[in-house]
Amino acid sequence: MDYRKKETTVVVSQKEISAGIFDLRVRTQAAAYCVPGQFAGIFPPSDSRMLMRPISICEANAESGEIRFVYRVAGEGTKLISALKEGDTAELLSVLGNGFPLDAAEGKKVAVMGGGIGIPPMLYTAKKLAGKTAETEIYLGYRNNDTFLASEFTPYGTVNVVSEDGSTAYKGNVLDALKERGFKPEVIFACGPMPMLRAIKRYAEEAGCIAYISLEERMACGVGACLGCVAKTVNKDEHSHVNNTRVCTEGPVFDSREVEI
Ligand SMILES: Cc1cc2nc3c(=O)[nH]c(=O)nc-3n(C[C@H](O)[C@H](O)[C@H](O)COP(=O)(O)OP(=O)(O)OC[C@H]3O[C@@H](n4cnc5c(N)ncnc54)[C@H](O)[C@@H]3O)c2cc1C
Ligand code: FES
Repeated sequence: MDYRKKETTVVVSQKEISAGIFDLRVRTQAAAYCVPGQFAGIFPPSDSRMLMRPISICEANAESGEIRFVYRVAGEGTKLISALKEGDTAELLSVLGNGFPLDAAEGKKVAVMGGGIGIPPMLYTAKKLAGKTAETEIYLGYRNNDTFLASEFTPYGTVNVVSEDGSTAYKGNVLDALKERGFKPEVIFACGPMPMLRAIKRYAEEAGCIAYISLEERMACGVGACLGCVAKTVNKDEHSHVNNTRVCTEGPVFDSREVEI
């Protein structure tokens, strides 16, 4: 069933939870059916009809009908979104993308990994994995000790906070911490910057585990029409016969063995 639609939602709240990082909650029917790893296109409130900005679902609550987004102000679009206040309306194209295949984690040792602004979707993922896995270790990578969201992961597994400058428990990147702890996951779920995802793809190939990675390509339409978000695939698409896939519709989550990154 295709749930993608443009809707006018109401802003429940918005606050800056860390320097330049905003926590936006909106009321939408999509809260009842979205899954971790999916995202919404948020239209910046502007007279110049800007394109939607893709932002991952950080949490969804079917009872209250709220979806939460946590995002960094990167440029003009997110700056405009950050000005939304309680009671304002927000135009959303939702929900988009495929989401993480949570069933693959059933009874398995799982690593949930997030880096920087790839951390928000991993909160919803970790929450939905709770009780399904044999063991969950969570690895969160930051630049420094500005560890936004980290404390919220505690109920869902062993949380390991890593920073580039060594100001947290582990220094380096998420894979450095995983190796230091000697944890051997059977399945990895990850979102973060491309160098982190490349390293996870390599690690999974060497270690013989499965990694599902969420790619954050630049996007325009969000619904598969503009081909603005293609990523290279290992195999040819059976319809188009090219080694391409659209991240907005076939992704953003891929089995790392399927994509060339
Ligand atoms: C599926 C998906 C989920 C995302 N989820 C989140 C999220 O949960 N939180 C969050 O903070 N951001 C997320 N992003 C990134 C977010 O969409 C961009 O930061 C945003 O669109 C930038 O818009 P802007 O107008 O503010 O900045 P622009 O002026 O468009 O760009 C500002 C800077 O950000 C860079 N940039 C823009 N888009 C991207 C992108 N997709 N990936 C990497 N760099 C980009 C540009 O190259 C430029 O340097 C996600 C992106 C995708 C594709
Ligand atoms: S953003 Fe247009 S096809 Fe993906």
